[in-house]
Amino acid sequence: MSHSLSSKEFSLMQKFIQEKCGIAIGEEKAYLIECRLSKLLIDSNLSSFEELYERITSRSDPNITEQVIDAITTNETLWFRDRTPWEILEDILLPRYIEEMRTGKRSVVKIWSAACSTGQEPYSTAMCIDNYLKRNGITDISLSRFKITATDISRSVVQIAKLGRYDSISIMRGLEEYYKSRYFTNEGRVWTLDDKIKNAVHFQQFNLQNSFLLLGKFDVVFCRYVIIYFSSDLKMEIIKKIAAAAEPDGVLFLGSSEIFPGQENSFETLHHKNGVYYKVKG
Ligand SMILES: C[S@@+](CC[C@H](N)C(=O)[O-])C[C@H]1O[C@@H](n2cnc3c(N)ncnc32)[C@H](O)[C@@H]1O
Repeated sequence: MSHSLSSKEFSLMQKFIQEKCGIAIGEEKAYLIECRLSKLLIDSNLSSFEELYERITSRSDPNITEQVIDAITTNETLWFRDRTPWEILEDILLPRYIEEMRTGKRSVVKIWSAACSTGQEPYSTAMCIDNYLKRNGITDISLSRFKITATDISRSVVQIAKLGRYDSISIMRGLEEYYKSRYFTNEGRVWTLDDKIKNAVHFQQFNLQNSFLLLGKFDVVFCRYVIIYFSSDLKMEIIKKIAAAAEPDGVLFLGSSEIFPGQENSFETLHHKNGVYYKVKG
């Protein structure tokens, strides 16, 4: 039984993946389909990618599409990835938001982690805010005034994220001892996130190809290391949709060195220390 991919199978799977997740896989990356979906073939007792495609399109197995999405997405993430978004949050945005809350100019801050994978990005944000409030002796504003929404297309990563439980390897990746000792408890190989931080993030499965209207508006959007996988048209569309979902003065964090077509039409580029962030144009 061979699982190697014919060009017909590549075309079928490529089209399906692009339609479902937006992920554009060029022919030179055909190996990704083969590497990431072969286990699904075995687990589903199928012999070829053509059979997998038939299973998907026959709709006889309601879980198969979710399983393909889970397997094909790149869920690589770490705590405080690149550091600079959280430096910008601490140095620039949090002092401004807190001042605005104190003067009654705003009541809450809405933050969206738009491709949150297993939760490290939104939980880093919640820990950063909680720590900022504590370190600065701020008692009149609480973490509950920061509404953090975290979404991802992959059902399995959202399930993992909701648990707030991490193994010894993922806990090491980017997390300073300072945060680990304050916000996690350890039992054997498992590290469990403090309930206060866990409950500060609302997780939801969401495809960035869908309309953002029901999500509401945001002051801060993290959309990091996800648009890179999409076609140019979809990249442009998502940047426009984020701009439309941003509150006036809303800011966007992209992955370091990510820059997209048409971005400058909707966002102004701002620099802080070694980091870059984008403010929605008025
Ligand atoms: C490389 S991870 C980045 C995680 C996190 N933002 C970070 O920077 O560490 C990319 C995530 O994007 C998600 N993703 C891929 N296509 C998506 C789509 N169409 N809509 C929403 N999320 C998507 C994947 O499931 C994956 O978890």
